[in-house]
Amino acid sequence: MTTQLIDAPAALSELCFADDLETGWGEAAWLEGKQIAVYRTEHSGFYASSHRCPSTGAKVMARGILGDATVDGHRVATIACPLHKEIYRLDTGDCLSAQGTALQVFGVQELDGRLWIEASK
Ligand code: FES
Repeated sequence: MTTQLIDAPAALSELCFADDLETGWGEAAWLEGKQIAVYRTEHSGFYASSHRCPSTGAKVMARGILGDATVDGHRVATIACPLHKEIYRLDTGDCLSAQGTALQVFGVQELDGRLWIEASK
């Protein structure tokens, strides 16, 4: 089946096919001059963040450890930096393990099997 996406929202940038991402892992990508990390959780939730850890500036987040945590009674997807294991929410970027700087996160939309990233954040 061939699907054409005719009216993609202007603020989104196409990144890849959803099936390009392995469940439970992240991948690094280059998008409009930025290194980003894009993730597919165990429940096929798609998230994107800066590839740069806000703790040290190391470009490592795509190799982080996906997980989840309960915040205010709700389960939220998280990523733990692979170096010093600071834990960040993937929906807001907030650091859950310290009073650290938030991770920059980007909205992700899945349309017709393709992933689109909000490029303006
Ligand atoms: S480099 Fe990410 S927590 Fe230290």
